[in-house]
Amino acid sequence: MITFNNVSKEFVDGTKAVDNLNFTIEKGEIFVVIGPSGCGKTTTMKMINRLIDPSEGSIHINNQSIAEGDIHKLRWNIGYVLQQIALFPNMTVAENISVVPEMKKWSKDKITARVDELLGLVGLEAHTYRDRMPHELSGGQQQRVGVARALAANPDILLMDEPFSALDPISREQLQEDVQNLQGTIQKTIVFVTHDMDEALKLGDRICLMKEGKVIQVGTPEELMTTPSDPFVTQFIGNRSLDKMESTKMLVRDVMDRNVNLINHPTLSTKHVINPNQSIEEAYQQLKEGSAPYLLVKENGDVVGTISYEDLARTWMKEREA
Ligand SMILES: Nc1ncnc2c1ncn2[C@@H]1O[C@H](COP(=O)(O)OP(=O)(O)O)[C@@H](O)[C@H]1O
Ligand SMILES: [Mg+2]
Repeated sequence: MITFNNVSKEFVDGTKAVDNLNFTIEKGEIFVVIGPSGCGKTTTMKMINRLIDPSEGSIHINNQSIAEGDIHKLRWNIGYVLQQIALFPNMTVAENISVVPEMKKWSKDKITARVDELLGLVGLEAHTYRDRMPHELSGGQQQRVGVARALAANPDILLMDEPFSALDPISREQLQEDVQNLQGTIQKTIVFVTHDMDEALKLGDRICLMKEGKVIQVGTPEELMTTPSDPFVTQFIGNRSLDKMESTKMLVRDVMDRNVNLINHPTLSTKHVINPNQSIEEAYQQLKEGSAPYLLVKENGDVVGTISYEDLARTWMKEREA
């Protein structure tokens, strides 16, 4: 659990990069920080591993102030993945991943086993990739090695600052899926910075939307869509999403989830029923108005599927990459 209490950062030149941040990141969640360029995302993230210290306020990890503990122990417990991963160019993949375990003086056998395990975890076959040099890898493969390196010493927290934004859409989508799967397996607390709303909707358990150094809203993707706290939230999510959907001209039937056995769900009223031939824009409006997590799709009295924000988000993402 990472808690920000009244955290502000003013740089020496007078730039107020972040202004009075207050939020808690829960253990095991993917917490996405999103907002326009320059809004303070990287500064927020770098304060967690003390690459930057706040000028006001405090940050606690598991109720301990990070300003008081040992900075090296803090950093060993936090993996860090950047957009430009900067693998050491004259070290093999295995050597790159081993850097922190070696600093921690793990045995050679333990390190070798860990390297192979991590390569498997990020989808690179160990015997093929272990001894390659960074220049023998694609951009996506280098990012995977970067993720493996960040996980090497088994940190509790993973910070990812726009880690996939330099990749082509296909590699990016694969890595997003890997992060989701990885999270299912390893249960780290992940703080993920992006300026891409599709990525945020896909990955975030909760999303923290920032603007000009301030937090505008923290909530689940559904909460940001259904109860935006500020017109900026709607502008950043709602309208964008709507614009996208209007251009798709897709029907509920095209995106609904057909794996259902939710017949006669007690909490759903007529507000929560839609016809498969209605547009996904209508589904979006109805979800918003009915404040339900999903709608039942009914045709001739039979339930034929459900449709949720997740189904819609997936559609916008596909369209974006098409
Ligand atoms: N070392 C620094 N000195 C002065 N200003 C900085 C420094 N680092 C970042 N800033 C400024 O702080 C603001 C937030 O930057 P940053 O956190 O990098 O934003 P983001 O990651 O959201 O693009 C920007 O106005 C940026 O120019
Ligand atoms: Mg940044």
